[in-house]
Amino acid sequence: MQERSFHIITFGCQMNVHDSQWLGRALTARGFAPAPLEEAQVVLVNTCSVREKPELKVMSTLGRIRQATGNSPRVLVGVTGCVAQQLGDALFRQRQVRLVAGSDGISGAPAAIERLLADPALRLSLLDFTAHYEEREAGSPLPRAATGHVNIMQGCDNFCAYCIVPFTRGRQKSRATAAVLDDCRALLAAGTRDITLLGQNVNAFGRDASGDGTAFHELLRRVDALPGLARLHYVTPHPKDMDAEDVAAFGELEHLCPRLHLPLQAGSDAVLKRMGRKYDAARFLDLVARLRAARPDVALSTDLIVGFPGESEDDFQATLDMMRECDFMASFSFCYSDRPGTRASRFLDKIPPEVQQDRLVRLQALQDELGTRWLAARVGQEAEILLEGRSPRDAAPDGSGESWQGRDIYGALVHVNLPPGDHLGRTVCVRIAHAHRHSLVGSLPGNAE
Ligand code: SAH
Ligand code: SF4
Ligand code: F3S
Repeated sequence: MQERSFHIITFGCQMNVHDSQWLGRALTARGFAPAPLEEAQVVLVNTCSVREKPELKVMSTLGRIRQATGNSPRVLVGVTGCVAQQLGDALFRQRQVRLVAGSDGISGAPAAIERLLADPALRLSLLDFTAHYEEREAGSPLPRAATGHVNIMQGCDNFCAYCIVPFTRGRQKSRATAAVLDDCRALLAAGTRDITLLGQNVNAFGRDASGDGTAFHELLRRVDALPGLARLHYVTPHPKDMDAEDVAAFGELEHLCPRLHLPLQAGSDAVLKRMGRKYDAARFLDLVARLRAARPDVALSTDLIVGFPGESEDDFQATLDMMRECDFMASFSFCYSDRPGTRASRFLDKIPPEVQQDRLVRLQALQDELGTRWLAARVGQEAEILLEGRSPRDAAPDGSGESWQGRDIYGALVHVNLPPGDHLGRTVCVRIAHAHRHSLVGSLPGNAE
């Protein structure tokens, strides 16, 4: 075991990935070094409870940690994030677990780890929700990366019938605009060119007791104007909260990319009503039409749930119809799963797993078709690629270059052969030569692919 070393295992959404990156930087600034699981003194599991059997996943991960560390009492295990918030002190039944830190408590985890290392008899749980967005210690310098994420809020107030997030992340708390802008400036100073603003319901930014009154579209405008920014994105918006200004931003802001992840969840009005989504199919389609009017090339992706309690085959067909009508370039799709404490978990007309699974397969086949068609339509077009790193693909067979990968303004992954050199964060203009199932291949003008 290596003294003052850490290893972080992450499940869940981009907000969790971002929290884990911050935890790593905070520990590094305190003199810890990253290490493989087998050698780490501090092992953290940052957990997600949004779907299916998250507790089992955490328990099996703790088993894996026990095995890798020889169940040594000198190894400090911490469970953080949404399952930690949900299960709380019950996690201490696992002998190695000495830290349990929930969604807000995670900001205190680095200091808690220092205390736990100093006092081997101690266990600590950080489970309280804070009234305001808790600013976090700065951590070690940001890594050099083309893309970066900035949290703009914590929690969610929507209580969609199926969703555990309002319970695990607490009420919505917006961050101060100045703090968001500072984080964006720090990323840009470190060479990042592409920023994604993160939150569970970003368009409701500022509309809570913790916010400073700045509306989301105003925040977008201010981030968009920061010198050095090439691309701006956000995730996740709620269709009911996309106001006229948020739509207009797609036609007005120079760096806001024409790609929006807009969760539909279901196509049937009856299901949407029971989900508590507060929009119907017609309103969603109207929003899509207004987005396309503001920015005709906007590409849409979505989240979909199949087998919500009471979903009939006709309801499911309505979801497929909406997918075609909205022409989603991509989607994340899930079988409905009961989450403790949610309204839907008490609904009686549950859909059998085999019916759910059958619907999921059919939905994903349609998405494959739509996604493949969207990618194929790009062949022959010119595209501006922001380079994110070397790609695992083989470079030119004659060895004349290196294969790099990056994304176009729609977020599609594009591979391109480039002359040897460091291209991280550069943009290149390519012509799309081929479409694969999930990515594109581009070539520099004048180069045959
Ligand atoms: N705040 C975002 C993301 C929430 S969680 C939003 O409102 O869209 C990410 C996705 O997980 C959701 O969009 C939903 O599609 C899915 N999800 C959430 N709870 C679920 C459940 N109980 N069963 C299946 N999928 C679920
Ligand atoms: Fe969950 Fe709904 Fe909030 Fe999204 S908006 S996090 S689905 S409650
Ligand atoms: Fe999962 Fe929590 Fe994110 S439940 S999806 S890690 S907000």
